Amino acid sequence: MRAVFVAAPGGPEKLEIRNVPDPRPARQHVVIDVHATALNRADLLQRRGLYPPPEGASEILGLECAGVVSELGPEVETLKVGDRVMALLAGGGYAERVVVHENLVMPVPDGLTFEEAAAIPEAFLTAHEALVTAAELAPGERVLIHAGASGVGSAAIQLSRELGAFVIATSRSAGKLTLLRELGVHHAVCTSQEDFVELVRTVSRGRGVDVLVDFVGAAYAERNQRCLAAGGRWIVVGLLGGARATIDLGALLSRRQTLRGIVMRTRSLPEKAAIVRAFRRDFLPWIAEGRLRPRIDVVLPFESVREGHERMEANLNLGKIVLKLR
Ligand SMILES: NC(=O)c1ccc[n+]([C@@H]2O[C@H](COP(=O)([O-])OP(=O)(O)OC[C@H]3O[C@@H](n4cnc5c(N)ncnc54)[C@H](OP(=O)(O)O)[C@@H]3O)[C@@H](O)[C@H]2O)c1
Repeated sequence: MRAVFVAAPGGPEKLEIRNVPDPRPARQHVVIDVHATALNRADLLQRRGLYPPPEGASEILGLECAGVVSELGPEVETLKVGDRVMALLAGGGYAERVVVHENLVMPVPDGLTFEEAAAIPEAFLTAHEALVTAAELAPGERVLIHAGASGVGSAAIQLSRELGAFVIATSRSAGKLTLLRELGVHHAVCTSQEDFVELVRTVSRGRGVDVLVDFVGAAYAERNQRCLAAGGRWIVVGLLGGARATIDLGALLSRRQTLRGIVMRTRSLPEKAAIVRAFRRDFLPWIAEGRLRPRIDVVLPFESVREGHERMEANLNLGKIVLKLR
């Protein structure tokens, strides 16, 4: 099969498609013939040699895919050959075939293309983990989502909206605000033109946001804490603006605030399976009904993987970049 490898740590020019042996399914694993896969920010770090795959995971890039089950391990109970599926992967998605444990696989709802389905697992499961599991977002609460036009951000906005929250989202690019409004935010803020702390204060009548979904980290940390409400939950999901920040622990204590990080890729199989199971039970029906929809930036042929990486690295994508293999 063909798969994308990193010839040496570096820029998008280091990506190359090679022929490698097909993967074989052991025990509770299945082979998926990949029809589409999607890019994630972590892929850029891995390509640069800054985010090695967890032990036992494929060296091939790619954290999610959609396709058709083509082979079963001897202990598989929940899937059959021919099933249309999407999967959360620890690696291996940028390939014509991938092996994955059956508990990390979800059915593709009717009416969804493989390209749409490939854009779901990483973005929506991460958004679910941040908003539902970590933040316990409740209807009527105010949520602030940074980098709202990112893959995960666009999923988090929709999930917050459907959970009945009041949603504020940011982007550094004024051109992305239209998308944020289309996704249903109540307020869209361009952080290069407007002070998001001021906006949050105004629209919350000085109370702040109850939940903060943070992909930026250090660069916004001081401002984030200033717009977090008493009892607020600040969930660190990404570190696009750096990892080292000064936090006012006095304010954290007296205002009963929570600061919590989440991570998906390095979680144990039982933990990931539980995340998939909860999302499948509570939110997959909403995808089937069209209440939640992956926001696709562009679908590129598999051979254009380099172009996809360049586009993401230049922060040009509005939602998910998808690669089509079949
Ligand atoms: N914890 C986990 O397990 C987990 C899982 C999945 C993703 N993530 C993280 O979630 C984040 C989003 O991932 P993604 O794949 O959805 O990303 P993406 O689609 O590439 O979007 C990232 C966007 O963030 C904004 N951005 C980039 N650098 C920034 C900076 N220094 N300060 C402020 N904004 C910046 C840019 O949009 P603007 O034009 O709006 O600035 C960029 O388009 C990443 O940090 C990723 O590592 C974490």
